[in-house]
Amino acid sequence: MSFLKVSDLKVHFPNRGGLFSRKGQPVKAVDGIHFSMEQGQTYGLVGESGSGKTTTGRAIIGLNTITSGSILFEGRQLAADGVQRHSAFRRDIQMIFQDPYSSLNPKKRVLDIISEPLRNFEKLSASEEKRRVQQLLEQVGLSPESIYKYPHEFSGGQRQRIGIARAIALKPKLIIADEPVSALDVSVQAQVLNFMQDIQKELNLTYLLISHDLGIIRHMCDQIGIMYKGRYVEQGTTADIFDDPHHIYTKRLISAIPDIDPNKREEKYRFREAVKAEYEQAYGNYFDEDGMAYPLKPISETHFVALPERG
Ligand SMILES: Nc1ncnc2c1ncn2[C@@H]1O[C@H](COP(=O)(O)OP(=O)(O)O)[C@@H](O)[C@H]1O
Ligand SMILES: [Mg+2]
Repeated sequence: MSFLKVSDLKVHFPNRGGLFSRKGQPVKAVDGIHFSMEQGQTYGLVGESGSGKTTTGRAIIGLNTITSGSILFEGRQLAADGVQRHSAFRRDIQMIFQDPYSSLNPKKRVLDIISEPLRNFEKLSASEEKRRVQQLLEQVGLSPESIYKYPHEFSGGQRQRIGIARAIALKPKLIIADEPVSALDVSVQAQVLNFMQDIQKELNLTYLLISHDLGIIRHMCDQIGIMYKGRYVEQGTTADIFDDPHHIYTKRLISAIPDIDPNKREEKYRFREAVKAEYEQAYGNYFDEDGMAYPLKPISETHFVALPERG
């Protein structure tokens, strides 16, 4: 049994009709994706802006209504064919948001921000609550005196730690982290990511990590799904994706990562040129007449690629 199993998930939004879109045609933000996750692991969802990553995460936590498909959490239905049963799992699944500047209420003290989920689910006395929040702050590397401060008194990295403290307050099993460090300076990104890994081991957390940054995905993830226009183009272990990419879109993403190892620059350059040539020549073979990805086909036990029938 998978810890989390997503089957043929579709999330379509009504189209209000804009400059470039015909009214009536729904926006197919997520259009039939399948994946599963194992407990204690990190699953990475990658793709360019607008490919449907956030919509997928929000569907899993119940913030987006699903159009069809099903989501099983520890073998139980979270949502199926448009019906949500998320309420029973609200403690178990939490989210860390992209922007620690706007996701924390600036008018609230840290004590009130972190204790919000506790107040919804547990009846603690004021002193118990304060103690719990101080423990959580220590767990994320902030001083217990921080409870009376406001978000603006912290740096970006510290604010994301406050967001993490709030997310772990109820001892969740799954955390959906949507671009958790992309609003932070590069110098603090690694700190926050390494801290997320430490706390993952400590609390046996499972992460769904959403990012457009392949460097981060490679560093953090066990399994990876590559999204393009609401569908998957490729899925596999980190080694499958980075050492043996098959879909032209995946190859393009990987060939664009700058290589810091000078010994590999030449090799990387040749790979980039080869991918560019293949992209120009064979792009059309990888997508259907609407420019959408084909269904995934297995090429090994762990590795799946969206290739056309004719292979
Ligand atoms: N509430 C919504 N109503 C209509 N369209 C939406 C809504 N949320 C997202 N979309 C559209 O769905 C697509 C996927 O968006 P999103 O999941 O945010 O992508 P990503 O996180 O990969 O950048 C985009 O075209 C976006 O404009
Ligand atoms: Mg997003």
